[in-house]
Amino acid sequence: MDGKLGIIGYPIAHSISPVFQQAALDHLGMQASYLAHQVAPEEVAEFVNGLRSPGVLGINVTVPHKEAVMPHLDEVDEWASSAGAVNTIVNRDGYLTGHNTDGSGFLRSLREEGDFDPDGRRVMVLGAGGAARGVALALVRQQVRHLTIANRTLERAERLAELAKRGGVEGVAMGLSGSEVRDAAASADLIVNCTTIGMSHGPDEQGSPLSHELIPPTALVNDLVYNPLETPLLREAAAAGASCLGGIHMLVYQGADSFEMWTGLPAPVEVMLEAATKAMAARSA
Ligand SMILES: NC(=O)c1ccc[n+]([C@@H]2O[C@H](COP(=O)([O-])OP(=O)(O)OC[C@H]3O[C@@H](n4cnc5c(N)ncnc54)[C@H](OP(=O)(O)O)[C@@H]3O)[C@@H](O)[C@H]2O)c1
Repeated sequence: MDGKLGIIGYPIAHSISPVFQQAALDHLGMQASYLAHQVAPEEVAEFVNGLRSPGVLGINVTVPHKEAVMPHLDEVDEWASSAGAVNTIVNRDGYLTGHNTDGSGFLRSLREEGDFDPDGRRVMVLGAGGAARGVALALVRQQVRHLTIANRTLERAERLAELAKRGGVEGVAMGLSGSEVRDAAASADLIVNCTTIGMSHGPDEQGSPLSHELIPPTALVNDLVYNPLETPLLREAAAAGASCLGGIHMLVYQGADSFEMWTGLPAPVEVMLEAATKAMAARSA
């Protein structure tokens, strides 16, 4: 299969999607290229319209364009509409559809790499930004039993807890510290970090949103932060004896879901994960 693929963002140099998507295309012997495009906000409309050309299979979309691309598409699927964000565009004979694979990629990474089925479980989500919204939507669809949203800005946590309640899930909002956080963490089967705490070049690079004494050894701790690969939270989780899942897995699975939409073929996930891990390790060295 020939074709053009890529990712748009602003800036885009940090993205490792070109590395692992190209590795997948090459592994399957496809004559296709996946390139990074830095697109300024005022160039989004023209760029998206250009995707209707023959030979373009589609693109990924990252910050800050996930919402901005939506009015320029012919159709937006239900996941992307609920998330209010598109991360994948597919071109079929000039007809552009928008999708969001963040939630499905998150669930697939939990199941396939974390050996965790969220159905009926108690989950604590740390953070209430874009990633937390996608994760919360996915968890509500999976009918988790209980969802705690803990965030520095309480009002944003409350909005996500409301979303959970509308989906029939018991949702509770709280700040990021205090005794209620201790109780919520102690009873969680899964803890997902969706804050930028612990992220390289982020606001609190060395920090961890939870310390080891708050993490139950029976929990799975999934840090969505993937740079660095081993985050301060994952070190705390390991010290507590909990199971750990790094953010690189969700990153690769959301990409794998996009790949499958564009090509109709099963994504070579192992190849993608190896390429992504190598690229990220080289960047943090
Ligand atoms: N693995 C993946 O595939 C994947 C996918 C998406 C995102 N991510 C990662 O997830 C993280 C969040 O991304 P996002 O797009 O959701 O970002 P975002 O929309 O900017 O949200 C940032 C979140 O972090 C919190 N936060 C920021 N600085 C903080 C601090 N100093 N102390 C406490 N809380 C703080 C914010 O709290 P307030 O509401 O109080 O500001 C908010 O909840 C990033 O590290 C990103 O790389 C990973």
